[in-house]
Amino acid sequence: MKIMHVVGARPNFPKIAPIMSTMANRRDLFQQVLVHTGQHYDYDMSQVFFEHLNLPEPDEHLDVGSGSHAQQTAQIMARFEPVLHAHQPDWVVVVGDVNSTVACALVCAKLQIPVAHVEAGLRSGDRSMPEEINRIVTDQIAELLFVPSPDGEQNLRREGIDDRRIHLVGNVMIDTLVNMLPQAESRATLTELGLAARQYVLATIHRPSNVDHPPTLAEVLRGLETISRRAPVVFPVHPRTRYKIEQSGLAMNDARLRLIEPLGYLDFLAVMKDAKLVITDSGGIQEETTYLGIPCLTARPNTERPITVEIGTNELVDSRCDALVAAFLRRWEEPHNGRACPSLWDGRAAARIGTVMAGEASSVPPVGASENIPGRV
Ligand code: UD1
Repeated sequence: MKIMHVVGARPNFPKIAPIMSTMANRRDLFQQVLVHTGQHYDYDMSQVFFEHLNLPEPDEHLDVGSGSHAQQTAQIMARFEPVLHAHQPDWVVVVGDVNSTVACALVCAKLQIPVAHVEAGLRSGDRSMPEEINRIVTDQIAELLFVPSPDGEQNLRREGIDDRRIHLVGNVMIDTLVNMLPQAESRATLTELGLAARQYVLATIHRPSNVDHPPTLAEVLRGLETISRRAPVVFPVHPRTRYKIEQSGLAMNDARLRLIEPLGYLDFLAVMKDAKLVITDSGGIQEETTYLGIPCLTARPNTERPITVEIGTNELVDSRCDALVAAFLRRWEEPHNGRACPSLWDGRAAARIGTVMAGEASSVPPVGASENIPGRV
């Protein structure tokens, strides 16, 4: 059975890595093709992840780059279609909620090629987030929905999705974290950055809702700057955020608020696992800190990962300076909780996905999968 995997943006890479590695162990069943849309293209945002995660070179590179949501999504769709015609996969695997995810799923739907969506069912309830639209559309289109936590199952059922399409498999990001932790532990990243374990804050902020509106961005930066008077803050800056900081003339950098370049997977993990507290607006980092038992302040009004809040590592906070500082002061003195983990966040999610897909491999190809692709036999 030929499986085509799609990646495009930074958070996709650690999700696809364990799935490709699991399927590589079953060469009798799976032939794999990797497509990189090029949504992220900087070395720091893409290539370094291929190196750290031992991902194979993509078989196809769509080189779409940046643009408005419509431009980016349309470019991916237009460039992905001929790749499907050329490779004629039996299944396409998409992960997460970025524009590449929904764009490729849509092209498959029109060509009647079945899609498996990994990290399905997550909902923030906030349709002003581009990712929420991407999640809803992709889940409606996908044939197989691989869900990381029980809330995802409930969301999909509420949206009328047939139970037979839904598989609760756990969290593939945690598979990668579990696999990579020993390598991250042996890195000298902390020493190189002059940080001492459990004495610093790690911050990442890149959501449009936090960085695109200069007064909001100014509040966040002022919050981080105030916090840095109490504890060093290391802030690997996403290119979108760096651009917005420069555009608004807000640049601030001192010995205690350290704005650094984005980190590769292993270096970021090395810094995250020894942080005393994390401040973020990322999705995946809410989950990784939950696994690691590190308090996380999420600068957003909602989350598509409510299980991280229920477990208690994660807390939603307003992006205003005083709210960030107050939450920091409350959580800073907390002892390290040890690991607290939702069930099935155990490093075996990709293996469960492999088992379900192997079942598909032994069944007859879905009706119609071959009809719309010229030259398909
Ligand atoms: C995308 C995802 C978001 C994810 C984030 C992780 C969507 C809708 N959003 O947001 O869910 O959390 O990736 O990083 O898909 N840029 C560069 N170099 C790059 C990539 C981007 O300089 O390699 C700059 C460009 O100015 C670009 C901007 O960052 O316009 C935003 O990039 P884009 O891919 O549109 O969205 P992200 O904010 O990265």
